[in-house]
Amino acid sequence: MVQAYISGTGFYVPPRVVTNDDLIRNYGVDTTSEWIVQRTGIEARRFADEGVGTSDMAALAARDALAAATLQPHDLDLIIVATLSPEHAFPGSGVFLQQKLGLCDGDNAKFVPALDVRNQCSGFLYALSTAVAHVRAGMAKHVLVCGAETHSAALDLSTDGRTVSSLFGDGAGAVIVSATDADRGVRGVYLGADGRFAEVLCQKIWDIRKRPFIPKNPDRSGTVAPEMLWASMDGKLVFKHAVGTMLGALMRACGNNNIGIEDIDLFLFHQANMRINQFIAHQLHVPDEKIPHNIQRYGNTTAATIPILLAECVRDGRLRPGMKVAMAAFGSGFTWGSAIIDW
Ligand code: UT7
Repeated sequence: MVQAYISGTGFYVPPRVVTNDDLIRNYGVDTTSEWIVQRTGIEARRFADEGVGTSDMAALAARDALAAATLQPHDLDLIIVATLSPEHAFPGSGVFLQQKLGLCDGDNAKFVPALDVRNQCSGFLYALSTAVAHVRAGMAKHVLVCGAETHSAALDLSTDGRTVSSLFGDGAGAVIVSATDADRGVRGVYLGADGRFAEVLCQKIWDIRKRPFIPKNPDRSGTVAPEMLWASMDGKLVFKHAVGTMLGALMRACGNNNIGIEDIDLFLFHQANMRINQFIAHQLHVPDEKIPHNIQRYGNTTAATIPILLAECVRDGRLRPGMKVAMAAFGSGFTWGSAIIDW
């Protein structure tokens, strides 16, 4: 049976570093670096400049991953973008990315399908699962999976919004999922969701049940109330569920593959909060060196956290051929996922 493996990884983070102190200095947020570091582990994040969107960063990460896989954009059969911050309400970022990869240009155009996955912090694992299914079914040979977010434009960077805005940053990660006859690659992706918690962490912007969906002014412009405009979160509830659910998702992944936690060489966790990941590591008796973090430098980049961390680990040699990798994520929805990969 054909297997799906990750043939290339890449990432892009914007150059502008915003430290915790910059949030105070440049935006006037009433916080302290100690508060943010102690609660989350975050020291800085990256913010993209005006004019830069999700598919711009995804395109740079994608080109990085294609180069690592020694492939060209025209080798792709499918594009999947996981994001909660697409350029527009519709269409999704996938089609903008396709265009930016040059796939719509001239006589050589290749109009491959392009789709967006809307699963927030677990978006990358939902997208990976879709890519693997396409490859295993013989529907695609090479699939581009990007997790990319432009959070900075949609954060309430005032004291009112500090609980959410101090956590998030911009960036993009990408992988190429390719077909192989070798006995390696993605062994399984295990997904779950619990819609009872759909509004615990959400950004509403509009209510489509209303006519019109956004209150209209006499001049035909719309007005969005602050509670609709900005993301809201019950942080303590998310934290509690994240720990238990990610533990369960990892146990499920191990059980389905007849392996123990001790068989895993590297754990790539969603980077929402270093305390969540350290708590899970402690519960599973996993040594620190098996759980890399980059939340200190990038904050929470939602769908991009796992592919950025993966690309960094490949680049600096922490992830080498023959190693067994576990991934786990949890977030808004609630949605979650885990994966086992023989690298
Ligand atoms: O990737 C998506 C998934 N998201 C997560 O996994 C996030 C999970 N949750 C968390 O990481 C934590 O709940 C947070 C780090 C978000 C918050 O930590 P917490 O210990 O749960 O704080 P809290 O929200 O209960 O707030 C405690 C206090 C509040 O003040 P009062 O009401 O007690 O006076 C907040 O206003 O801390 C205040 N606070 C802040 N103070 C300084 C909230 N944010 C800040 C801040 N700086 N940035």
